[in-house]
Amino acid sequence: MCGIVGYIGCKPAVPVLLEGLKKLEYRGYDSSGIAILEEGGIRITKSVGKLAVLQEKLAKRTFSSTIGIGHTRWATHGRPSDINAHPHMDCHGDFAVVHNGIIENYLELKEWLMAEGHCFRSETDTEVLAHLVEHFYKGDLEEAVRKTLAKVVGSYATVILSYKHPDMLVAARKDSPMIVGIGENEYYIASDIPAVLNHTRNTYILEDEEMVTVTAQSVKFCDFQGKRRDKIIFEVTWDPIAAEKGGYEHFMLKEIFEQPKALKDTLAGRLTADKVILQEVDLTPAEVAAFNKVAIVACGTAYHAGLIGRGLIEHWAKIPVEVDIASEFRYRSPLIDEKTLVIVISQSGETADTLAALRESKKKGARVVAITNVVGSSVAREAHDVIHTWAGPEIAVASTKAYTTQIEAIVLLALYLTQAKQTMSQEWITEIISELKMIPDKAEEVLKQAGRVQELAKYFEHVENAFFIGRGLDWAVAQEGSLKLKEISYIHAEAYAAGELKHGTLALITEGTPVIALATQRDLYDKTLSNVKEVKARDARVIGFTFEGNHGFDKSVDEVFYLPLTANELSPILTVIPLQLLAYYVSAARGNDVDKPRNLAKSVTVE
Ligand code: M6R
Repeated sequence: MCGIVGYIGCKPAVPVLLEGLKKLEYRGYDSSGIAILEEGGIRITKSVGKLAVLQEKLAKRTFSSTIGIGHTRWATHGRPSDINAHPHMDCHGDFAVVHNGIIENYLELKEWLMAEGHCFRSETDTEVLAHLVEHFYKGDLEEAVRKTLAKVVGSYATVILSYKHPDMLVAARKDSPMIVGIGENEYYIASDIPAVLNHTRNTYILEDEEMVTVTAQSVKFCDFQGKRRDKIIFEVTWDPIAAEKGGYEHFMLKEIFEQPKALKDTLAGRLTADKVILQEVDLTPAEVAAFNKVAIVACGTAYHAGLIGRGLIEHWAKIPVEVDIASEFRYRSPLIDEKTLVIVISQSGETADTLAALRESKKKGARVVAITNVVGSSVAREAHDVIHTWAGPEIAVASTKAYTTQIEAIVLLALYLTQAKQTMSQEWITEIISELKMIPDKAEEVLKQAGRVQELAKYFEHVENAFFIGRGLDWAVAQEGSLKLKEISYIHAEAYAAGELKHGTLALITEGTPVIALATQRDLYDKTLSNVKEVKARDARVIGFTFEGNHGFDKSVDEVFYLPLTANELSPILTVIPLQLLAYYVSAARGNDVDKPRNLAKSVTVE
């Protein structure tokens, strides 16, 4: 996730662009840059680091240009660096481009453009856009952009500035947000409303596959075929703080709702109809066959994603898996060597315990694959191979979209290992890939039931204890659901393997004790149902989560919540969403600081 801005009008552009970028820094902050038009050409200033570094660079001069574009970056393709920071230009410096999103076929396009004689400077996917516009330009900028977009597969919000058209900006969007702010004899373009709120409350919201051309006096919208579109003005009534959270009350809620997009982005370019492609992992089938063990190491929520990984890798790729909490791992002298594949999982990529586990594993000769959300983080730099989750910055301390995308990354890795070992049939792989592709839309369906979860949450406002139970992968999700509730609502919650209750914990179940029972694993359903009956017989208040169509479960529980049907192994991605919502609504109703719970930090960089 990155932030982009554009300005054309009568004010000096640089302060307007910097102010807009400041408001979008929550979307990414590893580097930033701007491009303005000056006599003689496009002038680009960019820098790795926070926006303040760019501001300092620009403070040395005043600029009179009244047109420009800007970008604040959350690295995806290419580590954070001056060269990889946006804007990017074509070979001759006639076009400058800023972009938010992922160009999935950029390698193919880059190869083709290089064969045509284009010279690339950065490692980014974005730079292909500038060269494509240069390639297609025959005097009409809009036409060149249209032809460019026809070649591109992926998601984007992009703005193009051209030295050949000093009085216009052309922008387009597909699957990444973009708005146009309307001033007097001026227009603003931005990824999000907060960037323009100091100047105007009148905006246009671009739809998918829509292009816009602005001059200081005019605005024109078209579809990707060049057909004109009329749009209505959207007047923003939110205050600036609410606007930063996209109108949501808290970042956590916004991030929960961002999951369909994050899930879609994490799969982008990594699946064909019958195969997983992980360009970032460089293992030959012979190397995969040589692993006699997988060790997954992580902390907190990332550890819970690792528990799901154990189920999948053992079941599909038939390799024994151990899962460890990173702070325990290195002090138990783990038996790992060059025949071990170590998978470290970390949203931030900076968690001290996880990093120490990674280093320990390398020292013992293991191959280390990292799953992380932050390009250029310590974990990403030090692992042998890295699978990035494309969740975008996660700001709330309670991890939500990072967790579901971590599960997706593990699914992809488990399938990659399975393909290499040929432990499952091609027919089965094709089937699971087709289920996986449907997960983002199914997550959207689950979110439609948020109001129902908010109702359920009312019961928890005044309870002191809660239990989460489930079997198999449901038990792993139960652990994450219980952590979510604890960390933000401060209710004591515990997760138990449903079959284990009778060995002690059942003594704690009394009348009205809330029990969240997860029963999404069809092969374990009957067993879980017996355990649900055990707690129900002790008068617990049971809220059940099960798969759609499993009518009958409602007779055994007090409330039932149905989840869209999917493969057993993929259901954790959907099951956790109502549990995240439950924790959120309980915490908000209790008046807690949802995004910054007491005693906790987003990234734990100390042991
Ligand atoms: O950045 P990491 O994924 O390495 O962080 C690990 C844990 O600190 C983190 O998942 C923590 O448990 C979450 N804040 C819980 O929501």
